[in-house]
Amino acid sequence: MFCSRRLASHYAPRRLPPTIKELLGADTLHETSVSLQGWIKSIRKQKRVAFAVVSDGSSAKGVQAVFPNEFDLKSLSNGVSVRLTGHLVPSRGAGQAKELQVKTFDVLGECPQETYPIQKKDLTNEYLRENVHLRARTSATAAMLRLRDCLHRSIHNYFRTQSFVHIHAPILTANDAEGAGETFRIAPVAAHPDAQVAQTHTPTEFFGAPAHLTVSSQLHLEAFHAALSRVYTANPAFRAERSQTSRHLSEFWMVEAEWALQDGIAELCDVVEDLLRDAVSKAFTECVEDVEILHAADRPERLEALKMAVSADTPRWRRMSYTEAVETLQQCSDMGRSLSTEHEKYLAEEIVKGPIFVTGYPRDIKAFYMRVEDPSLPREKQTVSCFDLLVPHMGELVGGSVREERVHVLEESMRDAGLIQQSKEGPYAWYLALRKYGAMPHGGFGLGFERLVSWVGDIDSVKECIPVPRTVGRIDL
Ligand code: 4AD
Ligand code: MG
Repeated sequence: MFCSRRLASHYAPRRLPPTIKELLGADTLHETSVSLQGWIKSIRKQKRVAFAVVSDGSSAKGVQAVFPNEFDLKSLSNGVSVRLTGHLVPSRGAGQAKELQVKTFDVLGECPQETYPIQKKDLTNEYLRENVHLRARTSATAAMLRLRDCLHRSIHNYFRTQSFVHIHAPILTANDAEGAGETFRIAPVAAHPDAQVAQTHTPTEFFGAPAHLTVSSQLHLEAFHAALSRVYTANPAFRAERSQTSRHLSEFWMVEAEWALQDGIAELCDVVEDLLRDAVSKAFTECVEDVEILHAADRPERLEALKMAVSADTPRWRRMSYTEAVETLQQCSDMGRSLSTEHEKYLAEEIVKGPIFVTGYPRDIKAFYMRVEDPSLPREKQTVSCFDLLVPHMGELVGGSVREERVHVLEESMRDAGLIQQSKEGPYAWYLALRKYGAMPHGGFGLGFERLVSWVGDIDSVKECIPVPRTVGRIDL
């Protein structure tokens, strides 16, 4: 018989040595010797002593290491990796509570200064994109990566508190979930050296049918919602968009959820707002130093506005219908009947001065799966039960909708989008079939994770919000 008690007493899990963040956060002071590894971020050599900042990436600041003058410090410079042992003592200098009095050190990896691309000076974003394999060595990129991690964890935690099940939706798909024709086709190199040319189903298709990288996990999540009620994923999405903007990537990460709705669009917006307020507030408490590093000192009002947006004293974010948004904007400018990105930003930045949900867009400019509010109206007057969440300096951060559950309305939208023919066979037949077997009113949303990082970190372009950006005409690493 399996005896877990006896096994447990014989087993001790390996605990990795403490990181610099853990050492600085703990009560460890000079009575115990500590050992740590990291990279030298800066070094100041004085006559009798040298001060170095050593970081292992676990926190924004690193530790101040004090080297007495008996050491030969010629090999120590920016970027060199070292192992240090010594005692943590209260620091006499300003800027840190503790410092490491070094007793011994080893250089683990040299770093020739003449050729090291990450010099201690202002490096442009473009230069760092060219050196993307090294850019996490800069404090801004490292701070962004920790912020990403913090936001990611909070989002998973939020879903857990609301009993959502995390689903690993497939990355390879047979459909274009948005119906926008922006998918990447995939094929084995040998079968299709020129995969772009092969648009039709041929016997050489690896999967027997055209395959794509996913643009959104929504349709798959809808299938799993229909069995598990509340589901979500945090997946990469791929779009062959040619837009070279600060908000678009060819590969980005999207947090998507799908669940059985009892209160339609209001419930959708509430959940998105709660999720974001929770994740952003946690970033301010758990990742405060990183947020400070990322926010530009010359525009402190952005950080203030962000804090205000998620403060418990701020009432729920504004909600406005598309028609009202257009009318409001028309009073300030001579715009037409549709919202452009610039209008969206203006609405959030200047009119509402904070996040705003715009709901009920015209049917003809939105995706096929969104629920038509009143199908009996003339087509040009029809709107869908959807929202876009717009935030200052960014525009759209989240998009979502109630899903169309009426088969005949859905079929009409899919036919209009060219996704099904009269026969209704093909890669979307299963999606229509979901409506046939015990369908429930449901809806969901997709949140662009890099756009969230950009908003919270006040980072100008999403290219600086992902470890390795992919954009049209460029693939590094
Ligand atoms: O508005 P989108 O296209 O919606 C969907 O894909 C839905 N199927 C999601 C759903 O309801 N499950 O994309 C959702 C979000 C956008 O609001 C935006 O934040 C982000 O994904 N996004 C991009 N982020 C970076 N680069 C791109 N090319 C993006 N395209 C969309
Ligand atoms: Mg959208």
